[in-house]
Amino acid sequence: MPGLVVPGSELAGPADWSRVFGRTAPLTVEIGFGKDTFLLEQAAEHPDRDHVGVERDPHRVELFLERAAKRGLTNVRALPVSAELALGSCFADCAVHELHVYFPDPWPKDRHARNRLVQPWFAREVERVLTADGVLFLATDARPYRDQMLDVLGAAGFTSLLAEGPSQNAALLGHATRFEQLWRERGREIHHMLFRVGGRAGR
Ligand SMILES: C[S@@+](CC[C@H](N)C(=O)[O-])C[C@H]1O[C@@H](n2cnc3c(N)ncnc32)[C@H](O)[C@@H]1O
Repeated sequence: MPGLVVPGSELAGPADWSRVFGRTAPLTVEIGFGKDTFLLEQAAEHPDRDHVGVERDPHRVELFLERAAKRGLTNVRALPVSAELALGSCFADCAVHELHVYFPDPWPKDRHARNRLVQPWFAREVERVLTADGVLFLATDARPYRDQMLDVLGAAGFTSLLAEGPSQNAALLGHATRFEQLWRERGREIHHMLFRVGGRAGR
């Protein structure tokens, strides 16, 4: 399938993105795009950047790549793997300019909270893959998960660039994802967060 990048096949190693895209350009990554089109819109708006979507559901990957092909986008690829594999093995140090994660599964029960994506390992890998001026965008409707995101990333030395509290506006980049639209229709609070890594001196 055009646009599908399988680690160990189309992607020979974490530093292979320039070969995959046929050029070197700033990299924007989204984890868990689901059925949403945010990354495709970014790719259309920013032809000078390359875009990688990470999603473990193969049907959503297929839909994403069909939409990318219909739009004639050449600067977008899908990595059909888990966030753990993508962040752990598919990006070189300081390779990613923007990382977006919108409405990751909230795992609301306490005994399932360990399954949440934003954990110390996630913070370590994001810190590793982001460029010195790179940024991490997050959104959730789940207040306990919002608190966990702020705690985990704060403890890892990230700096929050937005005031805390539910955001009144649609997504920071002018796009409300499918889950943002769904939760807003149901009257849920939405929390947008934006982080950069602190203490970058000497990198
Ligand atoms: C709740 S949906 C949000 C979809 C989209 N971001 C939105 O806001 O409309 C979460 C998506 O993340 C994907 N996902 C969950 N855990 C993942 C993981 N560990 N690695 C990759 N994708 C994951 C799911 O398959 C699902 O498509």
